[in-house]
Amino acid sequence: MRHNTKVLYSLPETAYAESNFPPSSSPTVLSLQLTLPTSPSAIMSTDADAWSKTANAYAGLITDATGKAGDALLDLVEALRPLSGDSIVLDSGAGTGELTTRILKRSPRASVTATDVAPGMLQILNNRQLPIKTQILDATKDYVSQGLQPEHFTHVLSTFMHQFITPVQKSVEESFRILQSGGILGIAIWSKNDVFKPWDIACLSLDPSYKPMEPGLGLFEWREPDQMEIAYYAAGFTEVSSDKMQLRLEWASAEEFADYFLTAKNPGFLLAQSTWKGSLEEVRGELVKVTREQFDDGKIFVEAAFTVGRKP
Ligand SMILES: C[S@@+](CC[C@H](N)C(=O)[O-])C[C@H]1O[C@@H](n2cnc3c(N)ncnc32)[C@H](O)[C@@H]1O
Repeated sequence: MRHNTKVLYSLPETAYAESNFPPSSSPTVLSLQLTLPTSPSAIMSTDADAWSKTANAYAGLITDATGKAGDALLDLVEALRPLSGDSIVLDSGAGTGELTTRILKRSPRASVTATDVAPGMLQILNNRQLPIKTQILDATKDYVSQGLQPEHFTHVLSTFMHQFITPVQKSVEESFRILQSGGILGIAIWSKNDVFKPWDIACLSLDPSYKPMEPGLGLFEWREPDQMEIAYYAAGFTEVSSDKMQLRLEWASAEEFADYFLTAKNPGFLLAQSTWKGSLEEVRGELVKVTREQFDDGKIFVEAAFTVGRKP
């Protein structure tokens, strides 16, 4: 992969909030070189195969957090239009089904379609044997030519897919297209995410010339609800509003975090690791140490942002 290298002299405010990372005035940060791929599509983690490979590792620890945030998204969605037995819901980028199960818990007779680009993710969801339809769908492409009906759904919902896809506006427009009049779009993203910080700090301490990927994999088109709201309005949604929630990804120990980070094959982690030129195992010991000492033995801060809106 070719990279453009850009030097930044302070970290974006949105990148490392509540951070244990050195303040931007520290000499370490002043010398950070942030490595950016030539185009967002070169690194965006929409690769079906990559997500399939991490599906087993993804289910469990990460989904505890995505599930909690999914419930917060549903609260915001239901304030606009409650889920009911008449609801026709799309869970887009459903992964292993955390949001799907919560939709059904709130409204067991809702008609739910769960879609994802990764067969491995949908396989785990199918194994849960829920009363839903599942289908492969690439959210960056035309939804109707992939089999979804226009003007059909009462709710199009999605948790933690949109920070990976580009162009993200296309998915908002396609969601508008498949919603009925009065239908609701609800999307959650990670707006802050410390999960890459222990890795960056460990690599920097082993090699001061290490060049981290931009903090929080900041090539995502969306980082803040403002950006989501602009996309919603541009697509034609009204009654647009947003909220945020802070939570933690909790590994049992620093060793478990390091093991997960190094072996789960999460596309985001693989991307961060691609900036280290040596072997991954060289970093393990330092990663454990940094995680134990600076990240409460594996308790990693993340912030979710939610935006909802109604199709007129
Ligand atoms: C971080 S996971 C979120 C899964 C689930 N919604 C949750 O909250 O736990 C991101 C999901 O988006 C899917 N994904 C990534 N790019 C996609 C695309 N272009 N179209 C559809 N799904 C995509 C991945 O396969 C993965 O299941």
